[in-house]
Amino acid sequence: MLSDVDCKILEELKRGHGHVSGEWLAARFSITRQALWKHISKLDALGYQIVAVPHLGYKLTAAPDKLYPWEIKRGLKSKVMGREIRYHQSIDSTQNEAWKLGLQNASEGTVVLSERQIRGRGRMSRRWISACGGIYFSLLLRPRFVALEMAPQITLLVALGCLYGIREATGLVCSLKWPNDVFLNGKKLSGILCEISSDTDRINFVIAGVGINVNTKDLPPAATSLFLESQEKMDRTFIIRTVLEHIENCYNRVRQEGFGPLLREWESFCFLWGHEVKVRIFEREINGVARGIDERGYLLLETAPRRIERIYAGDVIKVN
Ligand code: BTN
Repeated sequence: MLSDVDCKILEELKRGHGHVSGEWLAARFSITRQALWKHISKLDALGYQIVAVPHLGYKLTAAPDKLYPWEIKRGLKSKVMGREIRYHQSIDSTQNEAWKLGLQNASEGTVVLSERQIRGRGRMSRRWISACGGIYFSLLLRPRFVALEMAPQITLLVALGCLYGIREATGLVCSLKWPNDVFLNGKKLSGILCEISSDTDRINFVIAGVGINVNTKDLPPAATSLFLESQEKMDRTFIIRTVLEHIENCYNRVRQEGFGPLLREWESFCFLWGHEVKVRIFEREINGVARGIDERGYLLLETAPRRIERIYAGDVIKVN
């Protein structure tokens, strides 16, 4: 969306404290004043408020509240996650677009993000409310180092990355609910949906979809947003940047040390342990006490004294 020169002009406007001379900008990028004006108009059309004062130059007075790729990449410390970002103002679901890119051999770490989704989806075919003000993105992963049967753990890895990223960006400490929810003050703040493309015995790619309620207000009673919990409008760009960095960090850790240490960390943030829960697995429901997760990330459910069932996937409802 922005050319290299557009980005550099924007950078100069951000750096300049007062007005930045048009003459200086044109000379700096070896372009005419007319060409400079076109670049400025393009920035203006994207929502950057730039005032032009005769004899003084241009001044950036406000930046739009948009998750523009060039803003996210500014100072992004991750090496792979988010190096390629496909931006949409509106989309049916970022999952579908990322899936297509996965089939077209797009590189690992490619992010598809959208300001809103028309048909955002969650686990178990549920709807994910995706109004403007939240963060909705899908991340393309090619985890060749993960065996197919370990693929569900990628959800846990991504959830942990989100928790750490949100904590670093906002100072708010979230908790986790097996298998894919990030909670804040007892309500759901963020959800992760991993969709896996595989051959018979190996992962082809994983689309890790992340939804975070940031500045959104109209949410169901069981959900919350960072704004609703803090009464502060949050910087979404900063949040997505730190989340991507932490997901990459968790991903690299798994590559180096396997899932073990990370799963123990994941477990320490989960609030279910020792509580009576009901687990819904499609048509079936099992009651028990949540005891932890095993080395594959399966839920350990005590259904009778000293009788543990290992649950691969399901929906957990806390009863007590
Ligand atoms: C859940 O909690 O059930 C998972 C929610 C996942 C929502 C994200 S938003 C970005 C991506 N696109 C989607 O349609 N879903 C995921």
